[in-house]
Order: sequence, then C-alpha cells, then structure tokens
Amino acid sequence: MSSYNRQSKIPNLKSKIGSGSAPGKVILCGEHAVVYGQPALAVPVNGVQARVTVQTSEQPGLTVHSLNLDRLPVDEQGRINERLHAVAARVADLIGILCVSDQQPEPNGGLLITLDSNIPIERGLGSGAAIGVAMIRAFAAYFALDLSDAQVSAMAYETEKLHHGTPSGIDNTVVAYNQPVYFVREQPIELLQVRSPLHLLIADSGTRGSTADIVAGVRQRREADPSRYDALFDQIGAVARMAKGAIEVGDISNLGLLFNHNQQLLEQIGVSSPALQRLCAATVGAGAWGAKLSGAGQGGNMIALVTPPTEAAVGEALRAAGAVNVIATTVAPTKGGHS
Ligand code: PMV
Repeated sequence: MSSYNRQSKIPNLKSKIGSGSAPGKVILCGEHAVVYGQPALAVPVNGVQARVTVQTSEQPGLTVHSLNLDRLPVDEQGRINERLHAVAARVADLIGILCVSDQQPEPNGGLLITLDSNIPIERGLGSGAAIGVAMIRAFAAYFALDLSDAQVSAMAYETEKLHHGTPSGIDNTVVAYNQPVYFVREQPIELLQVRSPLHLLIADSGTRGSTADIVAGVRQRREADPSRYDALFDQIGAVARMAKGAIEVGDISNLGLLFNHNQQLLEQIGVSSPALQRLCAATVGAGAWGAKLSGAGQGGNMIALVTPPTEAAVGEALRAAGAVNVIATTVAPTKGGHS
C-alpha cells in the first residue's frame, strides 16, 4: 500500500463507503481499424470483474490498495501500482469537478481506494477500462453522485488516455454500458441487437502486449505505406459491418467466416503472433465456426465462436495448442431475439 499526498477535492465526510464494479470485454471485430474511424463490435464479459471501494481514511490524500498485484511478477508490480495511482488521481479530479461546493476539502482527511479485479492485465480483456469504470462508480457512490452510463464512459475515456495514448473509446464504451455495442469513433453509441446467443471461448495465448506500443507500431507502418493500410482498414470496416448484420439476424455460421476473414486482415497489418495463429487454427479444426485474435494482439487473447455441442472439444483443442487459460462466455440475445 502506498499513498499520494493529494488533498484536493476531498470533502469532509466520515465513515462512508462507496463501491462500484465493471465487467471485462472482448472485441468481436474491427480492432485497430476502429482507431482510424472504422466500425468495431464489442461485448461485455461478465465472468470477470473489477470491483472498487472508496472509503474515508485518516491518511491524507489518496491511498490505493490493490488486492491482486501480488499475482504479477515483482518487476511489474511497481509499474502497475504507479498506473493505478494515476487513474485514481485522475478520477478524483474528474469527480471533484462535479462535487457540489459545500463538499469542501478537509485538511487532514483522505480516501482509501481498494481494488479487487480478476481481469487479466494487458490481455485485451479491457482491464484498464474496467478499473476506470469501477473506480468512477465507486467515487460517484461515495459522493452520492448520480452519473449516467454516458457520463461514466466519457470519464473512463479520460483514464484510458493514461494507458493508451490515443484510445478509440471502444473499451470504456462497452464496459460502461455493459452491453454489446457497434462502435464508431466520435459517433453516438449504437447498441448491438443480438438475435441468437453467441457462445464464445476466450483463450489466452500466454504472452502480454502493450496496447499503446502495438497501436503505435500500426501507426508507423501506416505512415510508411498509407494506401495499403487504409485499404486494409476499409476491408476490416466492411467485415465489422457484415458481422453486425450477421449478429442481427442470428447467422452464426456467417459470423464465424467473418471472424476468420478479420483474423487474416489482422495478420496483414502485423498484429498477430505465431501463438495466436496456432490457437485460431486449432479451434477451426475442432469444430468452431471461426476464430480471431481479440484486442491489440501480438499476444493476449483470441476468441472462438462455438456452439454448446462443440464447446468442450474446442476448449480442449485450445489447451492442447498452448492456451494458458480458457474462459467461456455467452452473449445473450437482446430484446426481440431468441435464446
Ligand atoms: O485494449 P485492447 O487490447 O482490447 O485493444 C484495444 C483495441 C484497439 O483497437 C487496438 C485500440 C483502440 O483504442 O481501439
């Protein structure tokens, strides 16, 4: 546990506790191209969660305590701890702006922020966005602020900038709304209508990648060859639009083909890895409808579209092909769909 000596915007409230939580997420189609204005699809993953509590502390400023950091290698712990403090400070500033004027800073009081998250870090499962959203909700509960999902998402976008530099905004949107989304940068949010359940396996390739570095690598390659990259982004955008149509009508086999096509395009922009490709190949051989990396890539997770009868065999094939963890998640049909 460590503390930052910040004293701004902390009101004189005693013995209160506010809590907030947020799910993980996976991107179904459109990652990377979404940074360049193309559409992308993402769904929440409620099987993993970030939970945050905010409570009054006698220690001045903000004290951040993460219950899960000891699962990380020691050299990583300091870096992640720094980042958590930066997120907490940003959230405190953003919330402070909304706090009413009679909640004045107290000279010697502070806040203890406790984080408990089982979302793997830097694996494309939206850990950063989930921590930001959970923290904003916990601060809002502590200060009795009623925030809309849109406000939470906009604030979480500010915390995302601390890790990603130039995030598209898809992670904070899907995590804050906790619903499947069809996302286009700087456009109003469109919720995705899901006709039939989507059964997904999410498999961890065992390595991590920094989203900021991978996105920066794509940017450099695009600058070197804009026409090739813009054509690839256009094709990824077309796949995302077709995937939206397939999800809306419940055409799962077509959605699987679109996953495979999206994976090929992601390989061409240089964000796949041999391990991810091995996992994708193994799932298709075991009866999945399709598979692709999910998120920034070059490691992290991939997703396979399965059915209840094929799920066990595909899960086994993933583990045999080197997956270090496999999570099953189902995207339930939205209103008007069938289960
Ligand atoms: O945070 P990740 O690893 O799920 O990936 C983010 C998706 C990108 O499209 C690569 C970047 C972005 O900001 O949308």
